[in-house]
Amino acid sequence: MKFSIDLKVSSSADWLEVVMLDFDSFLKDHADCERKASAMATSLIAKYPDRELIIPEMIETAIEELEHFQQVYSIMKQRSVSLNMEMEEDLYIKQLMPLTHGGTPESRFLSRLLLGSVVECRGCERFK
Ligand SMILES: [Fe+2]
Repeated sequence: MKFSIDLKVSSSADWLEVVMLDFDSFLKDHADCERKASAMATSLIAKYPDRELIIPEMIETAIEELEHFQQVYSIMKQRSVSLNMEMEEDLYIKQLMPLTHGGTPESRFLSRLLLGSVVECRGCERFK
């Protein structure tokens, strides 16, 4: 079962203008985001193999995000855009990560799931 989070603040309209100014860079960054999302779902399975309730969802998510990567990569190839050699750190994720540290193992587990959901919801909001 999938749930969604209501974001408190919408992305600025300026975001789309910036994307359109350098669409190829956006594609490269977006490809990185899809690769990271798939890897995050896979890493949650690796880190929490005993959390059987989330494993089917994480498998689905990993595959879905890899398919998104495939779609973006296909567009990149049509435009002769190559992947980044190194994936840059996302500033906003870097700022949110400390919130997932500390506390009990259960709260860290839930915080990681929540962080992944927030990041995914923001991505969906921007693509609408
Ligand atoms: Fe995605």
